[in-house]
Amino acid sequence: MLYSLARPLLFSLAPERAHELTLSLLKSAHRMGMMRQSIASKPVTCMGIQFPNPVGLAAGLDKNGAYIDALAGLGFGFIEIGTITPRPQVGNPHPRLFRLVEAKAIINRMGFNNDGVDQLVENVKASKFKGILGINIGKNADTPVENAVDDYLICLEKVYNYASYVTVNISSPNTKNLRSLQSGDALTELLETLRKRQLELAEEHQHYVPLVLKVAPDLTAEDIEFIAKQLLQFKIDGLIVTNTTLSREGVENLKYADEAGGLSGAPVFEKSTACLAAFSKALDGQIPLIGVGGILSGEQALAKQNAGANLVQIYSGLIYTGPTLIKDCVDALKPL
Ligand SMILES: Cc1cc2nc3c(=O)[nH]c(=O)nc-3n(C[C@H](O)[C@H](O)[C@H](O)COP(=O)(O)O)c2cc1C
Repeated sequence: MLYSLARPLLFSLAPERAHELTLSLLKSAHRMGMMRQSIASKPVTCMGIQFPNPVGLAAGLDKNGAYIDALAGLGFGFIEIGTITPRPQVGNPHPRLFRLVEAKAIINRMGFNNDGVDQLVENVKASKFKGILGINIGKNADTPVENAVDDYLICLEKVYNYASYVTVNISSPNTKNLRSLQSGDALTELLETLRKRQLELAEEHQHYVPLVLKVAPDLTAEDIEFIAKQLLQFKIDGLIVTNTTLSREGVENLKYADEAGGLSGAPVFEKSTACLAAFSKALDGQIPLIGVGGILSGEQALAKQNAGANLVQIYSGLIYTGPTLIKDCVDALKPL
């Protein structure tokens, strides 16, 4: 209700300004005890973690973990913060976020703007949230892709004690060559190194934190086969399918469709869900799947579940539909 009143005002502002304003209003409303959505309990156990419900916030909305408590008040079953990089970075020049309203879509080329992993850890420490927190890690734009593993290792080590699970993001289209880590020896080296370090950290801290990979929807059948084999070989705990797409199918000729960046929201749903179904087939239930991409209704969340998702996440749908989408998705999903 509140969101449908605020939406025309927010949509009249530049998208990044609206994003910042929404988050700071949410934080104020939360502080005043005004922001609480009660959501049915629908517990799911996945990766050894008990989630209160299977609907999570996707990475990128709260990159620094500065709004965790306020976002938790909306009733998410889990919250993923990040992508965070070892050092702070400003991201790409503005404008870098575009609304394609007719298509209920977004194009972004933010480029991992973030305050750096140390600040994220401080923000997590300061939050009161006791729920399931995913921390999504990446590499700095100026780290050569050949040294990407070092950046992921730095972030993994720093966030290990503060995360319920850690997501390795190799699928943003806005960091040069990042997606090359999804194939060949680069993927093998990355997964092997991170898995080894994860097991050492588990031993050191006497506490196991699952490692999750996040992939793009723009993968061929061969890419999917290869990634699935690697995930099984290195016993990666989970897979998030998918990030944004480079495709412009479904938005051709719309204003901003030619802007560079990743497309999310309604037009990515089919591609992302097909990718999820292909991974589900290739992995045959051996690795849990988190379905994300184009969920704008409870039925679409259910379609992700039917395609093999154990959990789902939303981002663009929240911008277009508001927080009631969380409740609609929880209500639509079958108990697992
Ligand atoms: C503005 C914006 C920023 C994003 N930033 C990140 C990010 O930092 N890391 C990441 O893994 N995904 C990021 N994403 C991708 C989302 O987490 C999600 O995978 C994608 O948008 C598809 O879901 P949706 O259609 O529900 O938005 C971002 C998406 C948007 C729209």
